[in-house]
Amino acid sequence: MKVAGAVTPPGDKSITHRALVLGALASGTSEVCRPLTSLDARSMAGVLRALGAGIGPLRADHRVGIKGRGLGGLVRPRGSLDCGNSGTAARFTLGVLSGHPFSARVTGDASLRRRPMRRVTEPLSAMGARFEEENGDGLPLVVRGGPLKPLEHHSRAASAQVKGALLLAGLVGGVPVAVHEPGQSRDHTERMLRALGVQVQTSGDAVRLIPAASIPGFEISIPGDPSSAAFLIAAVLLAERGQVEFPNVLINPTRTGFLRVIERMGATVTVTATGETLGEPVGTLIAQPAPLRAVDVRPEEVPALIDEIPILAVLAGRADGESVFRGVAELRVKESDRLKLMADNLRAVGIDAESSADTLWVRGSQAPPRGPVETAKDHRLAMAFSVLHTVPGADITLSERRSVAVSYPAFFDDLRRIRARG
Ligand code: S3P
Repeated sequence: MKVAGAVTPPGDKSITHRALVLGALASGTSEVCRPLTSLDARSMAGVLRALGAGIGPLRADHRVGIKGRGLGGLVRPRGSLDCGNSGTAARFTLGVLSGHPFSARVTGDASLRRRPMRRVTEPLSAMGARFEEENGDGLPLVVRGGPLKPLEHHSRAASAQVKGALLLAGLVGGVPVAVHEPGQSRDHTERMLRALGVQVQTSGDAVRLIPAASIPGFEISIPGDPSSAAFLIAAVLLAERGQVEFPNVLINPTRTGFLRVIERMGATVTVTATGETLGEPVGTLIAQPAPLRAVDVRPEEVPALIDEIPILAVLAGRADGESVFRGVAELRVKESDRLKLMADNLRAVGIDAESSADTLWVRGSQAPPRGPVETAKDHRLAMAFSVLHTVPGADITLSERRSVAVSYPAFFDDLRRIRARG
């Protein structure tokens, strides 16, 4: 396949979530330019609207206006709050509601209901919020918030969703919160809060929030999502010739582990910084096809590429040699058990792969990948194997394709667009 052209990936999912939540908590109005408009972003916006925030319709290439209700000013919703497939929406909602004096029921789709919530409800309970579990460690949950106490928490996993939920609880409840993490998770909540004048200090393994009386309305232009770009970059690496440009992509180093790993695999992706938006660095990436060699991914690298492991595992399946991804147990509690499903699906298309409790092995092959893939309705599995389907002679059938709408509704159009004739 020959590739050409330029693709601006959809707005960053993590930053869109934070912009929507902080806009809803701001005193005044905010404007979010080029938000992600995928199902996950709609779930977050829907929950915040049900809590009284005035959020206009989410349309890509548009400005979305948000009328904030101020810290602690959200109102009791009429029905259950449905977070759909979105772990970030669920955990952030639990954090925000912990500081509000009413009860609300939080739920989600079948995949989200299976994901662990005690990693946020335990520390939020220590702050003073109360939770009623309907189904053990997961959703649905009824949360009853109220006055909160300060928190010093040691997270078992490096999770920006947990860290963000606890910082949001501290912000809404007006109490100091410190979160220690075993590794550096993405730092968007910290950056955005600092850009809004809130004191957030980082020292060693800890992030500390000093409460603020209020946060102002803001304007943000959402950069392109590097985790979505990763799928198209991978398609470019696997192509025969050409190059593709990706303008306006977030290049925050806590998100660019994918680029560092593919460089070790033999790829050259040029990164040119072009600016900054509300504390976040943005740049243009240019990718070209490259022969790939196997790679060893270490546990400390995982937080900066956690969402990219499915596509990295696909690239490892085309690389020369045996790749190992160590310390990836968190993959088991994503939208699906990605550790098991990546190994199963790679084998199903003829690539040697094995998983253990926290490690994934993949042996690369140049044979055409052929066979059925079970996506378990997980967007990142559907996209990863669609990229593998672009190599010569491939014949992969996905159990479904619609899940891409969770994070990248135009994925198949963009994948087609970079294919050049000749
Ligand atoms: C996210 C954090 C990550 C990531 C998810 C979005 C966020 O989860 O997998 O897609 O926006 O904070 P964890 O930090 O919980 O691993």
